[in-house]
Amino acid sequence: ADVTIYYAPGQKPFGTGTAAAAAQTSLIPGKSYAVLNTTELPPPAPPNPLPSMQFDITLQSSGTPGLSINQQAGFLGFSVEMSVANQILGKNSRSTLIQVPFLNLMSALIERSGRVNVRVGGNTQEQAALVDSLPDGRMLSKGDRSQASNPTATPPIIYTLDLLILMREISNLLNVRWYLGAPFNDTSHLKLDIIEHGQAILGDYLLGMQVGNEPDLFNVGQRARPSEIQTFITGVNNDAAITNKSMLMGPSVSGNGNFTEQQVWDAGFIQPDILNSMSHLTVEHYQDNNCALFFAGIGPLRDPQDLFPNFLKHSAGKSVIQPFINTPNAIAVPNKKPYIMMETNTASCGGFPGISDSFGAALWGIDYSMQLAYSNFSGAMMHVGGLTAFYNVRISSATNESSFHGWSVGPIYYSTLVMAEAMGPTNASQILDLKANNNSDFTPAYAIYENGVPARIALFNYIDDPSGASTYSATVSINGGSPLSQVKVKYLTAPSVSTKYNFTWAGQTFGGVYESDGRIKGDLDVKTVTCNGGNCVIQVPAPSFALVFLSEQAFSGSDTGTTVTFPTTVFTKTLNTATVDASILATSNGH
Ligand SMILES: *[C@@H]1O[C@H](CO)[C@@H](O)[C@H](O)[C@H]1NC(C)=O
Ligand SMILES: *[C@@H]1O[C@H](CO)[C@@H](O)[C@H](O)[C@H]1NC(C)=O
Ligand SMILES: *[C@@H]1O[C@H](CO)[C@@H](O)[C@H](O)[C@H]1NC(C)=O
Repeated sequence: ADVTIYYAPGQKPFGTGTAAAAAQTSLIPGKSYAVLNTTELPPPAPPNPLPSMQFDITLQSSGTPGLSINQQAGFLGFSVEMSVANQILGKNSRSTLIQVPFLNLMSALIERSGRVNVRVGGNTQEQAALVDSLPDGRMLSKGDRSQASNPTATPPIIYTLDLLILMREISNLLNVRWYLGAPFNDTSHLKLDIIEHGQAILGDYLLGMQVGNEPDLFNVGQRARPSEIQTFITGVNNDAAITNKSMLMGPSVSGNGNFTEQQVWDAGFIQPDILNSMSHLTVEHYQDNNCALFFAGIGPLRDPQDLFPNFLKHSAGKSVIQPFINTPNAIAVPNKKPYIMMETNTASCGGFPGISDSFGAALWGIDYSMQLAYSNFSGAMMHVGGLTAFYNVRISSATNESSFHGWSVGPIYYSTLVMAEAMGPTNASQILDLKANNNSDFTPAYAIYENGVPARIALFNYIDDPSGASTYSATVSINGGSPLSQVKVKYLTAPSVSTKYNFTWAGQTFGGVYESDGRIKGDLDVKTVTCNGGNCVIQVPAPSFALVFLSEQAFSGSDTGTTVTFPTTVFTKTLNTATVDASILATSNGH
């Protein structure tokens, strides 16, 4: 009551008011940003009858048959559609404009597995053209969607060398390795410049060059692309600016097109003059597609509610691999070529709202990736699209809102984080599908071995049941060697398979929509389970995923516990801010 408030000239005590929060609408007519979609599908009811809620997992301390081949660190990586590289990686190579959340997200993976592999390519690689410069310091520009002549009508793009320099700058900060895509749509006019410059700029950080993307979907009738690979290879061999002539990757069929992978093999792909040019063999496949949302005439719109249960079971990931199941053992391993699932996710054409962005997709992503590793694939790249895709592992906010919105970290990023930790950094991990609980589709389990010794166990519960009646307990033990006395457990949890954000991995989270700068937040919560006579009982709530660490080495070995983090050092849209020198503020006597 004794205080008098004086207002500066022109300022009056207006009181306070409220206004609507800044809203975001889509730049693409008729399509809203995927992160704004709030669809939470009702979760499927628990199966009736329930699978057994108690079962044993007994591993052998050595000599276990049926393990996968040795898997390299960084098994699960990302496939970034070339046209959105400027949203995901950064604006250009000036290091102030690399996306800080991207660096932080990659750093969290490197903390666990020592490296991350990222592919830049996709449909847009086919019509990508290198230009000397673009206005406003841009490195990438999208053309007119109506000029697109690729299967998903993605607009043609033009790019500058700055895209490759940006990738190199990222690798100078963090151990990120790259796959790049070269166009294969017109073998009478080869465009090899991306290989020439890719090798010169990325050096050892370039892992391979993909020859064409899903050539079986090219709009060229029943033409046999396999024979044209020879033309491409001859072009590479005659190009003096290409120093490494044996880092090509193919055939990258989609499994849905004009010819099958088997037809590519039958057409003579597997012969020395082709294989000598190849560093990897590749394929691309999604579990399903939502293309009816984009294109007329390819069938009715699909209802995500009907499809949700298809993703919430062990046989889901297996079904994606099934068409290619023989390739690893019959073609890739005997010819000493790693076989990579180059582009994949829940559903092509952006995924399904309520499925691709749900906790269920995070469980699906881990199970599917582990199944790929168990099936002797050597790596997999989860696809990242633009702002309208539901399956994104993480996505930036629109440019004009980046000063007040962070990123939204989606389910598949959590899958990648868990995979990095489950497989670890040793390059000597092998994985076994345990076909647990009588091979139940709802409670799958895997064991991960390091140098032949059991290191970690992965336990899934796909059932959605808040009552607790579907929480199962797995009794874990190891035959031979000294009995287990205690194990550590990390959980990936969310209230429901339908939940969209705020999942926790060992108690930590990337939060909700627009909340993340790429650093995981919250207190680490690792459970310790004391074992009784070598038997360790692990509770697995419905739904959740649990990673059991069978030794201290298996625990500390796959998470160094120190993440390099990156601060935001540049701000845009600072025009409405005032700066006051701290020393003046301190003596300003309140003015
Ligand atoms: C950002 O741009 C979009 C498209 O022009 C617009 O709809 C949206 O309102 C803008 N956001 C802000 C905060 O200005
Ligand atoms: C993977 O390869 C290993 C080694 O060749 C083999 O023993 C194992 O059976 C293969 N796994 C599958 C699922 O085919
Ligand atoms: C794993 O392999 C990569 C690539 O060959 C190599 O850079 C890394 O040092 C290896 N890690 C270990 C622990 O040997």
